[in-house]
Amino acid sequence: MARRDIVVLGSLNMDFIARAEHLPAPGETVLGGGFQMVAGGKGANQANAAARLVAGPGVVRLAGRVGNDAFAAHLRASLGAAGVDTAAVVATGEAPTGIAMIWLDAAGQNSILVAPGANLLFDVESVEALRPLYRGAACALFQLETPLAVVRRAMAIAREEGAVTILDPAPAQELPREVLELADWVTPNETEARMLAGRELEPAAMEAALLAMGARGVVLKLGAAGCFSGGVFSPGFAVDVVDTTAAGDTFNAGFAVALAEHRNTADALRFANAAAALSVTKLGAQTSAPSRAEVDAYCSFLVP
Ligand code: RIB
Repeated sequence: MARRDIVVLGSLNMDFIARAEHLPAPGETVLGGGFQMVAGGKGANQANAAARLVAGPGVVRLAGRVGNDAFAAHLRASLGAAGVDTAAVVATGEAPTGIAMIWLDAAGQNSILVAPGANLLFDVESVEALRPLYRGAACALFQLETPLAVVRRAMAIAREEGAVTILDPAPAQELPREVLELADWVTPNETEARMLAGRELEPAAMEAALLAMGARGVVLKLGAAGCFSGGVFSPGFAVDVVDTTAAGDTFNAGFAVALAEHRNTADALRFANAAAALSVTKLGAQTSAPSRAEVDAYCSFLVP
């Protein structure tokens, strides 16, 4: 039977979102507006969005670490409601569940500070036990809010088991060649691409630079402009922006879901752009992930 499952390895955070007209500068106090707590974390966001987008038999599984606290219970419950299998999310009493402080301005732009807590207690020795999850998977998604040694080992296992590996190099950091070589797709935004390449480059030159660093495929995420891959721009969809938090996570989920359905790259990128565009029209990380029906309807009615 064709592989359809998606495995995400990554962080789970509770996001504390505060809104204001403008983001505070160092030393400045800003009187803001509303406050909300929303399920987040790059890994959990990707799993949640993928589960909402999957159509048909595919299962979405998440591997991660949380504390023994109320935030963990809330995150598990909301992921479960979206259809994510969280059996590989392990609780530890040694650190609290990760949290993220998110400031959001009137234009929907954000600034995020993560206190990773239990996410950093994911140990490399435990990764081998995840091999059976990757065995039947079509795609394996990774980001950089868990220890790099864990990401690297899990990418190697996913590759050995025949899954397509998709690395979101976020938060931005330099990466060793051995990690990029394990990525079938690396999907940086502009900041992350500059960090990886060590310089600012035009999209075609940036793609060439990242391929030369070992990645098999590159998707440059360009925000509202869409994305660039294989020497071609895939335009974004124009929407009214409420909150850009997790747009990149939703993009990666959409890309993985479409690849798992064996769609071609151009079609997968269009689907990912549409999912990301819809996500920025709503507040929050996991609260903003669109359903499959919403993305399909949007793709069929709108030409970017
Ligand atoms: O990508 C958005 C996410 O980054 C937020 O949900 C926050 O938790 C941080 O991990």
